[in-house]
Amino acid sequence: MNPKPDSFLLLLILTTFVSICVSQIDQQYQTCGQTLLQCGDISGIGYPFWGGNRNASCGYPGFELNCQNNTFRLNISSMIYRVLDINNTTRTLRVARDDLWDNVCPRVVTNTALNFTIFDYYSTANDQNITLHYGCTINPVAIAGISPYNFNCSVNGLFSWNYYLTGQNSWLGNGTPCNTVISVPVNGTAAPALANPWSVNLLQGALNNGFWIQWSANNDNCNVCVRSGGVCGYNADSGSFSCYCSNGTRRATCDDDGNGTVDRKITKFSNNFR
Ligand SMILES: *[C@@H]1O[C@H](CO)[C@@H](O)[C@H](O)[C@H]1NC(C)=O
Ligand SMILES: *[C@@H]1O[C@H](CO)[C@@H](O)[C@H](O)[C@H]1NC(C)=O
Ligand SMILES: *[C@@H]1O[C@H](CO)[C@@H](O)[C@H](O)[C@H]1NC(C)=O
Ligand SMILES: *[C@@H]1O[C@H](CO)[C@@H](O)[C@H](O)[C@H]1NC(C)=O
Ligand SMILES: *[C@@H]1O[C@H](CO)[C@@H](O)[C@H](O)[C@H]1NC(C)=O
Ligand SMILES: *[C@@H]1O[C@H](CO)[C@@H](O)[C@H](O)[C@H]1NC(C)=O
Ligand SMILES: *[C@@H]1O[C@H](CO)[C@@H](O)[C@H](O)[C@H]1NC(C)=O
Ligand SMILES: *[C@@H]1O[C@H](CO)[C@@H](O)[C@H](O)[C@H]1NC(C)=O
Ligand SMILES: *[C@@H]1O[C@H](CO)[C@@H](O)[C@H](O)[C@H]1NC(C)=O
Ligand SMILES: *[C@@H]1O[C@H](CO)[C@@H](O)[C@H](O)[C@H]1NC(C)=O
Ligand SMILES: *[C@@H]1O[C@H](CO)[C@@H](O)[C@H](O)[C@H]1NC(C)=O
Repeated sequence: MNPKPDSFLLLLILTTFVSICVSQIDQQYQTCGQTLLQCGDISGIGYPFWGGNRNASCGYPGFELNCQNNTFRLNISSMIYRVLDINNTTRTLRVARDDLWDNVCPRVVTNTALNFTIFDYYSTANDQNITLHYGCTINPVAIAGISPYNFNCSVNGLFSWNYYLTGQNSWLGNGTPCNTVISVPVNGTAAPALANPWSVNLLQGALNNGFWIQWSANNDNCNVCVRSGGVCGYNADSGSFSCYCSNGTRRATCDDDGNGTVDRKITKFSNNFR
């Protein structure tokens, strides 16, 4: 009456069963679900973002985050932005232009637009545009020779006027010839405050505080995928959205409906019994 052979057999069966189950869990489902991004105070960041140790197949093109000096950076239409906040419920980001960070006088001033295929301004945020005017030949609103909206930049030691205007006083800049004029959103509290004369000391803080943008990366598809128990991703080969399910990759959903086509059938025992 030795129970050992029996329990050994049981253990063998159990081990085999467990390893089969483990080997059947989809690789992308596992890695994309578990490899979330973290940088500075921001953590738990998943789809559509990728970068660092989170593979491109776990995100969506245009959403690569770069963690530098404890701050996420995002390249939108060749402009680098610092990411200050991410809200995955509203699918919004608070971003600030990196070139204007702590420096209202960058070496090269460029105007930029969002990539409107995947981003838009978040209207609910009440952000407002201000304009920054660089290298102007005329002082627009001279009061005893100084303008209440001026800021100083020394560009190659050459003197020129620089000033900012808000929506409320933009008419002041009418007809002033300037080298470059850029438009930057600031929040709905900062803009009216900046409209007051001699409030230039608020300018840098308003720029550093950033503005909200909303993302669009197959949002509806992703909702459906997540609701069916999947993890969202992207297939660069087919150039389309992917839904990673525990039992394989589908185009849309893990549910076994007409649209839940299996893209890549999993190979049974792929890890252990090759
Ligand atoms: C949303 O963000 C929170 C923390 O900010 C994180 O824990 C959670 O996993 C995120 N959800 C998704 C779906 O990315
Ligand atoms: C990483 O992403 C690339 C391109 O999207 C994909 O071809 C590759 O299979 C992924 N690698 C892993 C380990 O998932
Ligand atoms: C990171 O910080 C270091 C030291 O402050 C600085 O020299 C470097 O330029 C910073 N890198 C970026 C990308 O801002
Ligand atoms: C905008 O984003 C789309 C989708 O990621 C990308 O295909 C396109 O090249 C981007 N356009 C610019 C100007 O970066
Ligand atoms: C930003 O993206 C553009 C094109 O997508 C690329 O040419 C440029 O080098 C990128 N900039 C940085 C600083 O990575
Ligand atoms: C995301 O935004 C919603 C709506 O503004 C807000 O209720 C929620 O608290 C925000 N979530 C986080 C994590 O900030
Ligand atoms: C700010 O300006 C951009 C164009 O530079 C425009 O698309 C956007 O709608 C403006 N935002 C507001 C709040 O007026
Ligand atoms: C700009 O520079 C001039 C001359 O150095 C100085 O008088 C003025 O106070 C400066 N203005 C600001 C806003 O710093
Ligand atoms: C608006 O920006 C200012 C800095 O200019 C900041 O102190 C304030 O907290 C911001 N308000 C909101 C609601 O984000
Ligand atoms: C994959 O799992 C889902 C539930 O998570 C199930 O509805 C579906 O039938 C399974 N598909 C296959 C091919 O096994
Ligand atoms: C497949 O998708 C189409 C359009 O998205 C929808 O009308 C149809 O009901 C779906 N079929 C099934 C079986 O879910």
